[in-house]
Formats: sequence, structure tokens, C-alpha cells
Amino acid sequence: MTALPTRSTIRWEQDETGVVTLVLDDPEQSANTMNQAFRESIAAVADRCEAERDSIRGIVYTSAKKTFFAGGDLRDMMRAGPADAQRIFDATNEIKRSLRRIETLGKPVVAAINGAALGGGYEIALASHHRIALDAPGSKIGLPEVTLGLLPGGGGVTRTVRLMGIADALLKVLLQGRQYPPRRALENGLVHEVADSPESMLAQARAFIDAHPESRQPWDVPGYRIPGGTPAQPKFAANLPAFPANLRKQLNGAPYPAPRNILAAAVEGAQVDFESACVIESRYFTELVTGRTAKNMIQAFFFDLQAVNAGRSRPQGVEPRTVRRAAVLGAGMMGAGIAYACAKAGIEVVLKDVSAEAAAQGKAYSEKLCAKAVERGRTTREKADALLARIHPTAEVADLAGCDAVIEAVFEDTALKHKVFQEVQGVVAPDALLCSNTSTLPITVLAEGVERQADFVGLHFFSPVDKMPLVEIVRGGRTGDEALARAFDLVRQISKTPVVVNDSRGFFTSRVIGQFLNEGVAMVGEGVEPASVEQAAAQAGYPAKVLSLMDELTLTLPRRIRGETRRAVEEAGGTWTAHPAEAVVDRMVDEFGRTGRSGGAGFYDYDADGRRTGLWPGLREHFTRAGAEVSFEDMKERMLFSEALDAVRCLEEGVLTSVADANIGSVMGIGFPAWTGGVLQYVNGYEGGLPGFVARTRELAARYGERFEPPALLVRKAQRGETFTD
Ligand code: NAI
Repeated sequence: MTALPTRSTIRWEQDETGVVTLVLDDPEQSANTMNQAFRESIAAVADRCEAERDSIRGIVYTSAKKTFFAGGDLRDMMRAGPADAQRIFDATNEIKRSLRRIETLGKPVVAAINGAALGGGYEIALASHHRIALDAPGSKIGLPEVTLGLLPGGGGVTRTVRLMGIADALLKVLLQGRQYPPRRALENGLVHEVADSPESMLAQARAFIDAHPESRQPWDVPGYRIPGGTPAQPKFAANLPAFPANLRKQLNGAPYPAPRNILAAAVEGAQVDFESACVIESRYFTELVTGRTAKNMIQAFFFDLQAVNAGRSRPQGVEPRTVRRAAVLGAGMMGAGIAYACAKAGIEVVLKDVSAEAAAQGKAYSEKLCAKAVERGRTTREKADALLARIHPTAEVADLAGCDAVIEAVFEDTALKHKVFQEVQGVVAPDALLCSNTSTLPITVLAEGVERQADFVGLHFFSPVDKMPLVEIVRGGRTGDEALARAFDLVRQISKTPVVVNDSRGFFTSRVIGQFLNEGVAMVGEGVEPASVEQAAAQAGYPAKVLSLMDELTLTLPRRIRGETRRAVEEAGGTWTAHPAEAVVDRMVDEFGRTGRSGGAGFYDYDADGRRTGLWPGLREHFTRAGAEVSFEDMKERMLFSEALDAVRCLEEGVLTSVADANIGSVMGIGFPAWTGGVLQYVNGYEGGLPGFVARTRELAARYGERFEPPALLVRKAQRGETFTD
């Protein structure tokens, strides 16, 4: 017998017919996780199942929490270093052994999935013969471990491979970590049934037990073969080399160990028996848990994201408010997207432009998105029609009466923005929240154009609005706490993630991404082969290559911003230090007339439809010099360091007030590589910690210029043995 658990996280409830309900209910946590208490509890449950086998007719896993089961014990994983490898390996194997003992008891086992079952939760369900998901709102099913730099180590790789075959398991479940709503999970074979109510779910579970008194997993039936074959079979073996190649392409050479380990665990595990496959899975899991990337990603995408969304940067003590009717000014690319995002969240939107036609065109954007969503089965026609009915296009200011929030997205021009706020401020609700989506103009200056400056705030969306999850909230010099909190609530209301920053040129995101762009362009100026610069960005893990991104944004925009910033610095009595990228951009625009993709030519050439056809050969002719190569390591780190150093300066200057905001804003807003866990987590996780980072940045400064000198805050923290935390 296993020792009794320190605290039981599973309640045993057996009815008179012999059906045992295992109620997952950790008494000390708000959600169930695969912690030590669970490991002990599930072992004790397996013991009891075996001891009382004859009196058991069937087993149902369900949970007393809102979510079925949350997954692994992430806090424990954050502490796990290489010295913990054996402990983690053993613990993982032990949980799997207990689930396996219940799975092979010879009695029907059903998972009654009453809420989200992600990661460990779905692994418990996979160890059941029958899976029923309650169609509860917000309920999701899947194995998203890869998004935290992990792999499903509770049998998830081993069982999905046996359930759906290697290819489907990798593509549908393991490699992208997709989260399926219950009905989608059903369509994709992750569950067997969906239930409409908790009562019917339990009735369905009983019906399965009645009909299958000796249920077994497909892989425990003699003669079972993995669907689609295994690498040992000739047909499969012929396709196998394509997997790593596809994976490499997908990852672009970026340092993500989890997909590689998942692939290895799936392929190696498919060639051996179930028990051996479980051990292989544990080995690859342990390697990830004790490594650096998983810690970075858990920090950012679990702890930081939770803190940010929960309101870490929201002023305390302001009553939460919901927006009912929003005025969106300007129905161009951004306004149209913002209108869609608001209407999707149930907000009535008055979408105003200079003419009724322009406004209608803005609404047409939502019509297109809705049509696509209906076609792909992501929404119903009724819901799409209701969304569209909430968008009211107009050219009349009077139609904005009663709006409790204004989001301005007209052309980037201070005088124009002042003018439109003048027009609307007397028409909308007297306490309406006033927001500008400017990407470059100081919020404090824009606020001077309105009567209620305390109610004025920056609400910086990213393009395309419907896809980008982040909104940067900018507090101007006179923005009040109330407005800031209301802006925060509005962003949450439309299900986006808000980071809060103080007003500064380029705020946080545009300013930091500017460093990345400058660094890449500077390399071209040094004579480095442009294709190498692009490759270095990809290998560092950036989703967009540096020169192609520059073309998208246009070369003229950063030039204009640079001009404005320079004027502001000089007017304030400072001296402007030119970045080596500036000369390259000036030559590209002035000498060669290449302004970026919208101008038909930039660092790349484009065809008549605006498609990239290749890097402009003139770059090699005019810039590239033999012998000017910079090592790949230096190139990658120059890009990453330039952004990280500027984020530290943002913290130092008070533009940022939270490390979590920096990490989340950088990854979700401007494509800082996800494996790092964000700009400041990258510094924390750098080899040798902060002192290692400081030493390396001094090296870069000596080689490439003063801009790499470490800011005082970084040096101070390194000396004190601190890291960047909130
Ligand atoms: P856009 O040029 O696509 O749209 C601007 C719209 O404003 C046009 O439809 C125009 O007719 C309308 N407009 C002009 N004067 C108006 C008035 N008096 N009343 C009502 N509507 C008026 O520009 P886009 O790209 O949508 O940008 C809008 C704002 O969003 C700018 O401030 C820009 O800096 C900012 N932004 C842009 C991002 C981008 O990726 N394009 C990202 C984040 C912010």
C-alpha cells in the first residue's frame, strides 16, 4: 500500500450501484494541479481501486472546481533546476503509473469534464475510456504545454499518439498547443461526447458504464496498431524525414526546445510498448522542466499574463465600469478594426468618418471578418448579424449623443485630432472616457485639445486589431486614475490584454521595437550581407525579419518620428546622438527613392500586387562590403540586447512601472521572441544572470558603440544580486 496522502485532493464517492465518482477537489487551492498532494492522492485511489475492485462497477472522474483540472504545478517547475531532474522524473512516472493502474483495472473509466481541461486535466481525461465534455462557456480542451516551453508529461504525448496517430497528434494537439471549445474538441476526436448540462453529463457517464462493463482503451486491445502507422513501417518511414524539416521551417531556426522534444517523444514512443513510451516521455519532459526556456515562458505566459490581466497596473479603488456605447472616430484601417472588436464584445458602436461612404466602408471590414468567421464555423450567422447590427456608420456628429467612450483613430495629426475632439466633446455623455489611438503623438499634448484633460488617455491598439491581443494604455501628464481604470476595464471588456505605461515618445512598444529595427538597419550600413541580417532575426526567434518589417512600417515613418524626437530633445536643451541606422534610411529614401512596401520598393523588391520578390540587389551593390561580416551570435544578441536595454531605460525613466507589463507588452505587442519570456525576463534568464548580461553588453558596447552601455539601474541590480521582478 502507498502511504496515505498528506492531504487528499480527490474525494471518493461510491453509490449503491457501485459507481465510484472521483471528485477532483484540492482543499487548499482554487484549482486542481498535479502537485505532490495529487500525486499521493491518485496513488492512494489506485490502491483502493485495486483493493475494492470487485465492488466497483465503473469510475467517473469529475471536479468540484470551476475548471476540471488546471494542469502541472507551475510554481514547483519554476524552482526546478538541474539538481531536481531525478525527483521530477520519478514524480512524473509515478503519476502516470497511478493513472495507468486505474485505466487497466478492467472497469469502465469516464471523464466527466465539467470545465476547462487543459494540460494535466486533459491527460486525466485521456487516461479514461470515455470523455464527455460539458458545453460550458469558456470551457477549453487541449494540451497547451508547448506554449509554456513544456511537453505533456502526464501521458499526453503517449496517449494522443495512440489515439489519433503521430501526424494528427502532433499537428492537431501537441505542436501548436491548440485549445478547443467542447464542440470543436468533439469534431477533432479529442472527446467522445458533449453534454448540455452537468446532470445530463453524469447521466451520459452512467449510460456508458452500463453499456461497457469491461471497457478498455483501444491500445490495450490485442492486435491494436497506431493509426496511420509507426516509423517502423516502411510507408510511414518514407514520410518521417518531412517532420523535422517542417518543424525547422516553422521554427525558423529559433531556439525552442519543446517542439523538438515533443517530436522526439512522439516518434520514439510510437516504436515501443506503452509503458516504455511513458518513460521516454518523462525523460523529455524532465529535460524541459529543468531547462531555461520553460522557466522564461512560464514566467511570462502564466504568471506575468495573469498579473497583467488581473489588474496589477489598474489604479485601485475605482469602481469597475462597462462601456455600453462607444464612438469610434475615423473608419480607416484602425478605426474599422476597433469597431469590430468593440461590437464583438457587445458594445454598441457609432463609427464616424468624414462621409457616410467612408464610414460604411469601415463597417464593411467587419462584414468581411464576420463572413469569414461564419464560413469557418467560428460563429453562427445569427451572432454575426447581431454583431453587425451593433455597428452604426455615420458622418453626423449628432449621432454620437450618449456615447460613454470615445476612441479616436483619425489621421496622425495633432491639429486634426484636437479638432475632432472639439467637435464631439459637447455631444457625447458628459463624463465619457476620451481615448486616442495615436501611435506616436504625446498624449499629454493631445489632451490639451479637450476640456476634461483628466478623462483623456492613450489607447494604443496594434494592427490588425482583430488578431492582436494587446492594447497599450498610455497615461498622459494629466490623466486621472479614474480614466486609467476605465480604459483598463474597457480593454478587458473587449477581451484584450492591457499594459499600462506613462507618456513618452513612442510610449513603450514603438520605442523599443524601434531599437530592433535600427540595429538591423545599422548592420546593413556596416556592410553586412542583408540576407544574413534577416536570417539572424529569424534565428533569434523574431516572428518578422527586421528589414521586411521595416518595409511594412515604411522607411519614412521612423524618419519623421526621429525628426520630431530630435527636435523635442534639442528644444529641451539636450544633444541628439545619431544612430548609425539613420544614414542608411536617409540614403534609401533620398538617394534611391525606396520608402517601403507601400511605395512599391524598400529593402525588398515588390511585384505589382505588393508581394515581396526578394531583397533589393542594390543593397549589396551600395552597402555590402567584403570582410564586414559580423558573427551570427553578435547579430542576434545586438537585436535582443538593443530592445532589452531600452526596456531597462523605460523602467529607469518611469515609462514602465511593472516588469510584467514589459514582458507581456514586448512579446504580445511587438514580437519580442517568446522563448525569452519577454524583454526583462530575457535579462533575468541570460547566462550568468544580470552580471552575465552586463558583462556581455559591455563587450557589445566596446565593439559596436555606446548605445550598448548598461543603464545604471541594470548595473545596480546586477551588483546587488537582484533580478527584474515586480
Ligand atoms: P487610416 O488613414 O487608415 O484612417 C484614418 C481615417 O480617419 C480615414 O478613414 C479618414 O477618412 C478618417 N478621418 C479623417 N478626418 C476625420 C474626421 N475629421 N472625422 C472622422 N474621420 C476622419 O489610418 P489608420 O492607419 O487607421 O490610423 C489611424 C490612427 O491610428 C493614427 O493616429 C495612427 O497613428 C494610429 N495607429 C495606427 C496603427 C497602424 O498600424 N496603422 C497602429 C496603431 C495606431
